Amino acid sequence: MNPDTAVTEHVLEFRRKIEQRQARVGIIGLGYVGLPLALLYAEQNFPVTGFDIDKHKIETLNRGGSYIFRITPAEIQAAKEHKFTATSDYSQLGSMDAIIICVPTPLDEYHEPDLSYITGTAQAMAPHLRAGQLVVLESTTYPGTTEEVLVPILEKGNRSGLKAARTGSTEGPGFYVAFSPEREDPGNTTVARPDIPKVVGGLEAQASELAAALYGSIFRRTVRVSSPAAAEMTKLLENIYRCVNIALVNELKLLSLRMGINIWEVIEAASTKPFGFQPFYPGPGLGGHCIPVDPFYLSWKAKEWDFRTRFIELAGEINTNMPYHVLESVARALNQRKKALNGSRVLVLGVAYKKDIDDLRESPALTIIELLQQAGAQVSYNDPYFPSVGKGRKYDLQMKCAPLENLNQYDCVLIVTDHSDYDYARIVSESQLVVDTRNATRGLASSKIVHC
Ligand SMILES: NC(=O)c1ccc[n+]([C@@H]2O[C@H](COP(=O)([O-])OP(=O)(O)OC[C@H]3O[C@@H](n4cnc5c(N)ncnc54)[C@H](O)[C@@H]3O)[C@@H](O)[C@H]2O)c1
Repeated sequence: MNPDTAVTEHVLEFRRKIEQRQARVGIIGLGYVGLPLALLYAEQNFPVTGFDIDKHKIETLNRGGSYIFRITPAEIQAAKEHKFTATSDYSQLGSMDAIIICVPTPLDEYHEPDLSYITGTAQAMAPHLRAGQLVVLESTTYPGTTEEVLVPILEKGNRSGLKAARTGSTEGPGFYVAFSPEREDPGNTTVARPDIPKVVGGLEAQASELAAALYGSIFRRTVRVSSPAAAEMTKLLENIYRCVNIALVNELKLLSLRMGINIWEVIEAASTKPFGFQPFYPGPGLGGHCIPVDPFYLSWKAKEWDFRTRFIELAGEINTNMPYHVLESVARALNQRKKALNGSRVLVLGVAYKKDIDDLRESPALTIIELLQQAGAQVSYNDPYFPSVGKGRKYDLQMKCAPLENLNQYDCVLIVTDHSDYDYARIVSESQLVVDTRNATRGLASSKIVHC
């Protein structure tokens, strides 16, 4: 049989399995990205197996619990009824038809890409690969990772000497590889996840066919690009676009403050333009796993091409400086009230990196708390999503959530994250001084409010 025909038959067989919900889907990395994805497939009646090295997560899921605030135990239990199981046993990968990798891609201490989770996953899964399987990487990373990093490890480590299918390759049936970026926006309830188009780029045409079939079963629209690298770059373009535009409004906010102009009013007015303008909002600094991190994956890779990504570097510089601006604003506001920051009691409202979510990663609140403490302030925090804040990759705060009462005891209440549950009118009325980094107090007129 001609290998092209065999491949085509394989694609048809894969599509049939997808249509009949017989395709077994394995998802590696059950975090903020992987777990909701696993639930989406389970909802659509696919037999889904989730893989994670975190034994606590596996136990929690298998007893029907959840460790992500916005995913309820009821959703996990419903998924289990639809044949969702979780395991740390990679040997089960052999029975999967498609394997989706959703492991972290942080920066290391030198601000360079840390691909150790991807390489560790690839090494662990390689021995279990079998011919015909589809492997999709979803972790955000620099262009070239799928082809230059993932595929060589999978090829080297698998027991049967299988090769990834490539254009023009005459090797026997191997495995198929694609990249498909995750585009989830945690806390965004305006777009349902299946309505977010899914970009896929296969290593060759059949891999793209398989990936499009896999995602087409749960996403309303799939968008094919010509290669994994194009798909990897698509995700980075999206996040760099946000990072640069946020830096732009952050810089314009600093100027507006000096000029006595309300930047929020300006953004609202500019947003009435029906074309050519998309609003971005200033804040106390970037947070989350993506926007502060991903652009630097590209600037690192660009160096290999003797290229400097100046927009990324400038945006990084402006955004990284925002917590220092918050510190200065608190000190200045206290100074106007004849108080020193050193020794003042400051309550930080909101430590999550953005409103209404339970995610602390790269949160500017953590940097701000550290800066305030270094300046001698007595810092407390309140956040309905975090009863305590312990040790993270870059901080060790060991703080407990302070109750939202007796606000008058604080010299300053600093709004860092504008959770919707807060009653801002009450907060302003009960506090001595409110420094607002998010325009959370809009519409409230009080001499106690300082915008920063
Ligand atoms: N969180 C988001 O909103 C978001 C949005 C778009 C893209 N992304 C990207 O998706 C990827 C995953 O992000 P996340 O937020 O889900 O991370 P996360 O830290 O919430 O979850 C990652 C999971 O992978 C597990 N893991 C690590 N190494 C493993 C291994 N070798 N085998 C099995 N499991 C392993 C961890 O235990 C963890 O449960 C990252 O590349 C991120 O940049 C995240």
